[in-house]
Amino acid sequence: MGSTRSSFTGKLGFVLAAAGSAVGLGNIWRFPYLAAKYGGGIFLLVYVALSVTFGFSLMVAEIAIGRKTGKSAVQAFGDLDKRFSFLGLLASVVPILILPYYSVIGGWVTKYFVGFVSGSAQDMAVVESVQVGDKVELVSYFDKYTATVTEPLFWFAVFIGITALVVLFGVEKGIEKVSKVLMPVLIALTVFIACYSIFTIDGAWDGVAYYLKPDFSKFSIMTVVAAMGQLFYSMSLAMGIMITFGSYMKKDINIEKSAKQIELFDTGVAFLAGLMVVPAVFAFSGGDEKALGQGPGLMFVTLPRVFETMTGGTIIGAIFFLMVLLAALTSSISLMETIVSIFMDKFKLGRKMSCLVVLVISALLGVPSALGSSAWANVKILGMQFLDFFDFASNSILMPIVALITTIFVAYIIKPKAVIDEISLTGKFKWKKLFSVIICYVAPICILAILVSAILSAAKVISI
Ligand code: PHE
Repeated sequence: MGSTRSSFTGKLGFVLAAAGSAVGLGNIWRFPYLAAKYGGGIFLLVYVALSVTFGFSLMVAEIAIGRKTGKSAVQAFGDLDKRFSFLGLLASVVPILILPYYSVIGGWVTKYFVGFVSGSAQDMAVVESVQVGDKVELVSYFDKYTATVTEPLFWFAVFIGITALVVLFGVEKGIEKVSKVLMPVLIALTVFIACYSIFTIDGAWDGVAYYLKPDFSKFSIMTVVAAMGQLFYSMSLAMGIMITFGSYMKKDINIEKSAKQIELFDTGVAFLAGLMVVPAVFAFSGGDEKALGQGPGLMFVTLPRVFETMTGGTIIGAIFFLMVLLAALTSSISLMETIVSIFMDKFKLGRKMSCLVVLVISALLGVPSALGSSAWANVKILGMQFLDFFDFASNSILMPIVALITTIFVAYIIKPKAVIDEISLTGKFKWKKLFSVIICYVAPICILAILVSAILSAAKVISI
């Protein structure tokens, strides 16, 4: 990113680059498992409602701040008001927390891609019944894989190694070009797999109903906490990334339109991924709550079973996991690039040294996440495995804090007019009223409420 400050040419350039960073594991891996876990349709409804209100407002605000100052997050806030320099730093902590565990999951994807290419597709679809005491438990290939020490570690190392090499040699452009061509393939495949499972797997229609029809009895404050964290994560908000993107954006590009396009694209991919995974898992388990709420492993357990029933499923599966891998890589590269450039600016390190430091930090933070189901399965923080803890700490705590202070900063320090003026450079800001009301009143109050609920739930004061 560092050397491309004026390189978004053409109207679509900015949107494509931002969408390339936004679409990643958040959409394909994280969204479906949250939707399955938090009540299906009700989660979808809350997510979309938050997306067009909070998501939109925060996205235009961040892009506008970036373009107005021409600086990345670490400096942009301080430039506008010295007292808020800390906010840039706080935002920068988010990618540092996310990259390590993101790479552990990237490692899982790499493993599944290699497995499908090397003929282990059948094994990956196996779910066995195992007698544990007087109960029968289902154990998947994924459970067995994550219970080993060496494998998740090895694939984590492969994934973060590729990411670091790309960032070190500055060849992001090449990778992004490849991924942009492949993005339509990913979307087409997702649609195909979704249609396949809905129309051929018995009981999938009930899963479609679960995914699309809001059941208000399933609503809880945790639905909103999870949806909001997911919104920030998926759209790369509340971590300074969109500010940096904004700083590369030309003055004649329409911020409002671009933000709407990025949101539509990002939410569209997440929606399709949900349609691909949720009905299938619903059908396989007969709507069993435990299967729906299994969390991070959902995609890895469900999709191999879908591919197993498909003619040519091994090839389709291999191509699918390759696409997911590339989407994950573009995101991890942009995460690492962001951290590396912060280290270069803040600590005056060279690119190589900075890469090395980031790699070491990520390895240190990533190893516990990779070992969370094996060697360190008994080590829990606030009742969570390391991976879940890092995910919770960044998405449910730190990002809402950054988002909250950002809204306060825009509403009461630089005032909404500063953002509105920047957006109005290219013509009328259509959602100006909505933006002002949300940024001044709705967002600060709601984010605060959500943050408090997340903290209370972590402290187990209220149950999740
Ligand atoms: N938004 C990305 C995803 O959905 C994650 C990401 C966050 C990527 C921040 C880059 C920067 O997977």
